Amino acid sequence: MNRLSALDVHLTPADADRALREDARAGLTATPKELPPKYFYDARGSELFEEITALPEYYPTRTERALLEESAAAIAAASGADTVVELGSGSSAKTRLLLDAFRAHGTLRRYVPQDVSEAALRGALTALGAEYPDLELHGVVGDFTKDLGFLPKRGRRMVAFLGGTIGNLRPRERAAFLAHVRGALEPGEQLLLGTGLVIDEPTLVAAYDDAQGITAEFNRNVLHVLNRELGADFEPAAFTHRAVWAAEDEWIEMRLRAERAMRVRIAELDLEVEFAEGEEMRTEISAKFQPEGVRAMLAEAGFDLVRWWADPERRFAVSLSTAV
Ligand code: SAH
Ligand code: AVI
Repeated sequence: MNRLSALDVHLTPADADRALREDARAGLTATPKELPPKYFYDARGSELFEEITALPEYYPTRTERALLEESAAAIAAASGADTVVELGSGSSAKTRLLLDAFRAHGTLRRYVPQDVSEAALRGALTALGAEYPDLELHGVVGDFTKDLGFLPKRGRRMVAFLGGTIGNLRPRERAAFLAHVRGALEPGEQLLLGTGLVIDEPTLVAAYDDAQGITAEFNRNVLHVLNRELGADFEPAAFTHRAVWAAEDEWIEMRLRAERAMRVRIAELDLEVEFAEGEEMRTEISAKFQPEGVRAMLAEAGFDLVRWWADPERRFAVSLSTAV
């Protein structure tokens, strides 16, 4: 890491363990069963996500990258921020486009990437430290749904939330999250948001059910996480990956389908759960939005949309909004 980089752990291994226990118990005893998507992202899961971003079917990453290539200079000029905070930053791959534009604009001093995955964050910080030796880098391991207390209090800040990750939150969590971000900002500071848009079902389903089976492996990774962290005895190979477009909710659901009836023991929870043959457990939603829906959810949280970029096929959008 470079001389100017630091890593703060806001989510200690003990906090993470407590949250996983609570979420796993609640989700595995619910009907239907459900697990939160944040548990995909151990070191292996973060690697699998990076592989997903390069798949021919997975259009969101390359579409958003093209939009950032087009918009980064205008974003830097409109924002004038000296501190870019990124939530769920992962590998920070696309963020380099923003960092370059802000640097060229002459205002950038500090980049604060935040992620629940310490492995992804450490990898990103090491690479960024070498590429941006003069930039102050301040990584934060944390859960963006719980803790934004790490946001630097000084400077002029822009919060970036890219990749369409807002779509992985359920509607109520999404509204609470945006209100929380708004509460952490001063009027005039910005939010840069990436959102997947509602498009045709075959393209959407293919993006979440690729021919090489990488997304299937990513989905089953949550079972490996439960086996390792909670002493569970899931047989990942006995679960099939499913990606379903829920038209009414306008989201993709990723599910794991038990191919036969089985009983799974989660030793650390002293819990046994039964799966019926064909039972499906939801592991992720990935909501897609209508443009007016994005504007409305931002307005409801206290943001004014100032600029909007979408690709010609209207698959993805990047929006810049200001806290009012
Ligand atoms: N922003 C990157 C990565 C998207 S993948 C991109 O656009 O490509 C989603 C990222 O969010 C992962 O790195 C994952 O570890 C992180 N993440 C998921 N849930 C999180 C949470 N609750 N708090 C913090 N980070 C989270
Ligand atoms: C991180 N997030 C925006 C991804 C998505 O598209 O919802 C996660 C993902 N799930 C399957 N493929 C990618």
